[in-house]
Amino acid sequence: MSGHRLLLPGLRLWTSGRGRWMSRRHDGACFSSCSPKVCIVGSGPAGFYTAQHLIKAQKHVHVDIYERLPVPFGLVRFGVAPDHPEVKNVINTFTQTAKHLRCSFYGNVNVGKDVSVQELQRAYHAVVLSYGAEGNRTMGVPGEGLAGVYSAKDFVGWYNGLPSCRQLSPDLSCETAVILGQGNVALDVARVLLSPVDMLKWKVAPEKRRRVPYVKETDITQPALEALAHSQVRRVLIVGRRGPVQVACTIKELREMVNLPGTRPDMVEADFDGVTEALKDLPRPRKRLTELMLKTALQTPGETEQERRDQASRTWGLRFFRSPVEVLADPERHRTAGIRLAVTRLEGSGEAARAVLTGEVEDVTCGLVISSIGYKSLPIDQSVPFDSQSAIVPNTLGRVKQAPGLYCSGWLKTGPTGVIATTMNNSFDTARSLLDDMESGVLDLSAAKSGSQVISALLEQRGVKPVSFSDWEKIDRVEMSRGEASGKPREKLLTVEEMLHVART
Ligand SMILES: Cc1cc2nc3c(=O)[nH]c(=O)nc-3n(C[C@H](O)[C@H](O)[C@H](O)COP(=O)(O)OP(=O)(O)OC[C@H]3O[C@@H](n4cnc5c(N)ncnc54)[C@H](O)[C@@H]3O)c2cc1C
Ligand SMILES: NC(=O)c1ccc[n+]([C@@H]2O[C@H](COP(=O)([O-])OP(=O)(O)OC[C@H]3O[C@@H](n4cnc5c(N)ncnc54)[C@H](OP(=O)(O)O)[C@@H]3O)[C@@H](O)[C@H]2O)c1
Repeated sequence: MSGHRLLLPGLRLWTSGRGRWMSRRHDGACFSSCSPKVCIVGSGPAGFYTAQHLIKAQKHVHVDIYERLPVPFGLVRFGVAPDHPEVKNVINTFTQTAKHLRCSFYGNVNVGKDVSVQELQRAYHAVVLSYGAEGNRTMGVPGEGLAGVYSAKDFVGWYNGLPSCRQLSPDLSCETAVILGQGNVALDVARVLLSPVDMLKWKVAPEKRRRVPYVKETDITQPALEALAHSQVRRVLIVGRRGPVQVACTIKELREMVNLPGTRPDMVEADFDGVTEALKDLPRPRKRLTELMLKTALQTPGETEQERRDQASRTWGLRFFRSPVEVLADPERHRTAGIRLAVTRLEGSGEAARAVLTGEVEDVTCGLVISSIGYKSLPIDQSVPFDSQSAIVPNTLGRVKQAPGLYCSGWLKTGPTGVIATTMNNSFDTARSLLDDMESGVLDLSAAKSGSQVISALLEQRGVKPVSFSDWEKIDRVEMSRGEASGKPREKLLTVEEMLHVART
């Protein structure tokens, strides 16, 4: 009796003579297959969590990760606020995955430009698109292109050392900044704008606050630090089109604003009319967040807090029921002088309430406008289905619709919301769909695939030199040693050229 007759469904047997796996499907049919080769596009949390799950659950799969930049980790490096270093610890898990024998990293490969998705599909059994959301929603109002208006995506990229945002050099010479949108990105930006510059150089360690005021822990770039040290911004308004019960930020981030040294809150009491009465019907996390807002806006602070607020030189405030209508220019029309906001009211209640215009408008004088109304995925390759209405790749549980062998995970799959843990779960789900398709035979593993071999040859022909994970580790070491010199965990390299130079040294 040949070996494979003894095979149980779901188990596989290596037949060294044929260089293939023999498997039995649950319907009893026996088939042979090769070691599955999967490629992932993008090395943010989605890419790494998808790879991690595949490698852990399937003992023979090989995963290649292609990344546009010479450096890995996506928004963990270029999005997460520099004063939240603890969030970046996920990099340790991603590094373990990257160093796994069945995983390879190819940085400096721009999929859609250096190599097409179809070429990847021909070289691999399956392709997972995890390239995130690199665009941003626009307000679509006149004046959006004026000097002094920035997207939060670019502003965040600038202080976090994203090469494409290096030249942004935002003008911080005005007193008032208006941030549109009330999500956690808006709060990150407000905090960075208003933090005492020493706090950005060094993160306060609460347990050591008395003895050692600061520990060195933020990796904000030196140019951003210098610009912020000279910033004239003293007042930041964080504007939402809906009400306090609909804010998109979370309590931890709001509490950081409330406790930010050197600042005091400045809210409009009338915005909170009826909110106390609504508290009882709110789900717990939303209730606690709203209570903190109410306390900050309406309660008379205790003596110590009042003293702290009296000494504050900077203010911040949430402004509700306001939607952007136009960015106003100075008389010479050279740069931002203010913003016109439409006054709104709510239709409906709770999280689903909609903002509708009342017909009234209000002008706010400001020299800086930061639009933080969300990121947006972009199509990278014409062959890939893309839903431009919702700016995602249309999919069912991570399977790209009408594209067998193509999968997606992360923000490209769900849209640009959710923290790293949410992205982890949706990436694990995609990996599970892919594994189910391998198991059920939906994914054809009968033919051997050349994987990175053929792609590397194509890239070489096109003059593209990928950066390996050990090349990235050289960059990492240089950044850390530069950081040490200025008392920071790292000083990021700010151009692709410099990254490539270090990688190849
Ligand atoms: C400003 C900001 C701060 C955040 N802070 C936190 C936080 O403190 N805590 C938290 O839990 N979550 C935070 N998040 C959310 C978290 O960053 C996301 O959940 C997560 O990064 C989404 O992962 P992703 O892999 O889908 O996208 P990304 O992280 O964007 O990764 C996508 C990767 O694909 C690469 N790529 C793009 N195009 C191509 C291409 N053509 N070819 C090859 N590669 C490509 C990109 O370079 C990038 O490396 C924050 C988000 C933002 C925007
Ligand atoms: N520390 C952290 O954990 C952290 C830090 C940063 C980001 N993140 C996560 O990353 C994700 C993205 O964050 P985000 O802040 O970019 O997005 P977000 O949470 O979706 O917030 C977007 C904000 O923009 C507003 N908005 C959208 N379209 C608008 C328009 N046309 N006009 C006016 N306002 C508009 C939204 O208001 P409406 O509600 O009215 O639509 C909302 O206030 C979130 O899940 C966030 O939690 C987490």
